[in-house]
Amino acid sequence: DSQNPHLFTVMGASGDLAKKKIYPTLWWLYRDGLLPPNTTFFGYARTKMTVNELRERCDPHMKVKNEEKERYELFWKINYYVAGSYTERRDFELLNKELSNFDNLSRANRLFYLALPPSVFDTVTVHIRNTCMANKGWTRVIVEKPFGKDSASSKVLSDHLSSLFAEDQLYRIDHYLGKEMVQNLMTIRFGNQLFNPTWNRQNIASIMITFKEPFGTQGRGGYFDEFGIIRDVMQNHLLQILSLVAMEKPASVHPDDIRNEKVKVLKCIQPITLNDVVLGQYIGNPEGEGDEKFGYLDDKTVPEGSNTPTFAMAVMRINNERWDGVNFILKCGKALNERKAEVRIQYHDVAGDIFGGKTKRNELVIRVQPGEALYIKMMTKTPGITFDMEETELDLTYQHRYQGVVLPDAYERLILDVFCGSQMHFVRSDELSEAWRIFTPLLHTIEREKIEPIKYVYGSRGPIEADNKSDAANFKFYGSYK
Ligand code: BG6
Repeated sequence: DSQNPHLFTVMGASGDLAKKKIYPTLWWLYRDGLLPPNTTFFGYARTKMTVNELRERCDPHMKVKNEEKERYELFWKINYYVAGSYTERRDFELLNKELSNFDNLSRANRLFYLALPPSVFDTVTVHIRNTCMANKGWTRVIVEKPFGKDSASSKVLSDHLSSLFAEDQLYRIDHYLGKEMVQNLMTIRFGNQLFNPTWNRQNIASIMITFKEPFGTQGRGGYFDEFGIIRDVMQNHLLQILSLVAMEKPASVHPDDIRNEKVKVLKCIQPITLNDVVLGQYIGNPEGEGDEKFGYLDDKTVPEGSNTPTFAMAVMRINNERWDGVNFILKCGKALNERKAEVRIQYHDVAGDIFGGKTKRNELVIRVQPGEALYIKMMTKTPGITFDMEETELDLTYQHRYQGVVLPDAYERLILDVFCGSQMHFVRSDELSEAWRIFTPLLHTIEREKIEPIKYVYGSRGPIEADNKSDAANFKFYGSYK
């Protein structure tokens, strides 16, 4: 199969996602010789432009080193660009004609990456299905969120897609599934006798999954306001992590065995309610610098008086034998004090403490970014003559342990997986509908009742109410270590 031609089309090639993520990823994969040898790239969008103009848009994001310049030229030599509408069949026929120049006599495979606004999704997919499918080889379609806005709209979209393509032709991207430490979750859990048997309510008090960004939505406010942080991050990235942390051991590492377990654990979660969440929206910090001065509502692209949350924390429960009573705290926000994504598994207090209450809980921290790391907070005797104790870490920081190892970008892994036909790290349609089942009632309540988010200052930790809620949910912050 890898000897056959592969035709990769970026639909929406003139857009932001294409220039910032997709083209750089294609270039890195090409640069590293990871793609099938006979791969050709096509861009498709409404803007009339040449390949050179496309290249100019992408250049600032491609990170080309001096010694790679020659190879970079070769990359653009196998790029083509077709301008066309997203609605007219005849434009897609033209695209197909261009593609067919490369696969007339052979079993070429075709991949389509839909980096498109939701509004044109329907027509584009219909036209691809009707005019652009591979002749003899396979066709695979990669789609990006938003996959709808709630259960009903997501079902419409899923039904639409499944009327056109088989599930094994569809690759729903959640790029968090392409991150090193997210992929590591299964290995940590099921490859270690130390962890697997303690991974339960008997040993674990609570689990926090955090996503923080130190910047706001400036410039992206228009898009963001339609969705809000729950749809943007929590319903997908954080819930995906939760399902990998909480699922039962799959029968094998076959993609469907894994995804079956992910769906099963999601089914044990009741829809969350307003009582389970803290919602926030950032305001400007008058003492801050640059963007920090501006609150969410100062963005001209955000509708006046918008109640859209830019911060959310939810406490979730999984009603099964393993997790009954354990709180899963999902926390995410924009314009916070730092950039960080991590999972913190907090064990119970030591029973029958003999150290006068000095012992702190063990905690396993899996840091997704920045600086991939896995560490265990644990108690040890303070080195030296006294018989005292302190908290320390068993520290596996990748930068130290795996010096010089370059970790691929999430998109690189995932796009390569599509070439290889591996759906392990992609979202199956039943997973998606479970995710929406959990969040839809809450989202509807927030919108119907116009719930006002709590204001927090740009660059802060978010609303204090969130910290109070995680305390109440049996997650202990110790001193400065938050
Ligand atoms: C995207 C969200 O899915 O993930 C963005 O739409 C967010 O709002 C981004 O900034 C974060 O991705 P990463 O890989 O930079 O953590």
